[in-house]
Amino acid sequence: MLGKRVLLGITGGIAAYKIPFLVRILKKQGAEVRCLLSPSAIDFVSPLVLATLSKEQVYFEFWDKKTGKWTNHVELALWADVMLIAPATANSIAKMAYGLSDNLLLATYLSLKCPCIVAPAMDLDMYKHPSVERNLAQLQMDGVSIIPATFGELASGLEGQGRMEEPEAIAEYLSSFFRDVKTTNSASKRILITAGPTREPLDPVRFISNHSSGKMGYALAQAALNKGHEVVLITGPTAYTLSHPNLKIFPIETASQLLEAVKANWNWASHGIFSAAVADYRPKETLVNKLKKHADQMRLELVKNEDILLWASENKSDKIVVGFALETNNSEENALIKLRTKKLDLIVLNEQHNGISGFGSETNKITIFDKDERKTEMPLQSKRDAAFAIIQHLDKIS
Ligand code: PMT
Repeated sequence: MLGKRVLLGITGGIAAYKIPFLVRILKKQGAEVRCLLSPSAIDFVSPLVLATLSKEQVYFEFWDKKTGKWTNHVELALWADVMLIAPATANSIAKMAYGLSDNLLLATYLSLKCPCIVAPAMDLDMYKHPSVERNLAQLQMDGVSIIPATFGELASGLEGQGRMEEPEAIAEYLSSFFRDVKTTNSASKRILITAGPTREPLDPVRFISNHSSGKMGYALAQAALNKGHEVVLITGPTAYTLSHPNLKIFPIETASQLLEAVKANWNWASHGIFSAAVADYRPKETLVNKLKKHADQMRLELVKNEDILLWASENKSDKIVVGFALETNNSEENALIKLRTKKLDLIVLNEQHNGISGFGSETNKITIFDKDERKTEMPLQSKRDAAFAIIQHLDKIS
């Protein structure tokens, strides 16, 4: 964090009382911090405390009514290496998503040339409200990174998700953010990543699929982009979005479409990471009309889908090919069989423990095996950190 310029946007939520602690941590780590408050934030945290701790002027008005002096939001925006908005209320998130600029903080956000990170904080029902989810998704599409709210006791007395992440964790996020961010350079890789589930249609309204959320694949794409690599992301249906100048996204539904998209981009790629959960089988037939209910039992005939990872490995020339193995039992043995039979450069083993690791969870417990079967075991960590570790491992071996 040494010398990094953090523009700390504070909006009017109770979690603002924790921001002086964050300022202290960032200052101790050597960052320069300037605080910028929305008008209602002043009711929750004292500008004097923030000015004292940051050793900088605190900003909250377009102009000083006593001196008539104007605060230049463009200069503030240009000064920053990153803008962190914490806590970010539902109100400010909505205004950011819609491009409103009725206060200095919002005008500065709209003038940014640097990345922006948002740490939301609000009551649990507000956090789950479709409009808030939609606005956060919009911010992500606009390239803003979100530090998700955590679970626990809320100021309302209710318990649930909505607490702003703790200052220590936000500071940790920021320092790993600066560690990750690099611009594309001559050493950058062209990484093809598959993510999410596939859907194999049975009739016009039903399909066979699995619980993959796409979180791991999107985290891999984000980590690769942060490292300055170019990414092609081939993704099954997920709730995630990502935008970046070095990213191309190819949405697919079925395993055959995934295979076609991989084939279409394989010449371009220097690396392939296959984290999608691809259906091994598909219905032999897709009915034109909705299947009607008749007998008490029915048999569904399935045919095998092509193994896309195997195809990639058989057509790899000098590319690096990384597979995933999702296992529930005999994990290492099964992962090593996949590594050997598919002749992979790396395999990432993750075990399915519902809600903790594997499908749908926020965290993942991964073990990486190199092609010589050397094992690197990792602790349970966020998928973001797991993705960073995988890309770092890839950078080491190629
Ligand atoms: O999306 P999330 O909710 O974040 O969950 C992440 C994840 C658990 C889906 C991910 O980390 C993961 O493990 N992905 C691979 C899941 C899987 O299908 O594993 P598998 O052991 O069945 O397949 C082994 C490998 O072959 C995988 O790299 C898979 O992409 C590939 N494969 C499988 C079948 C097929 N027809 N073609 C393939 O390419």
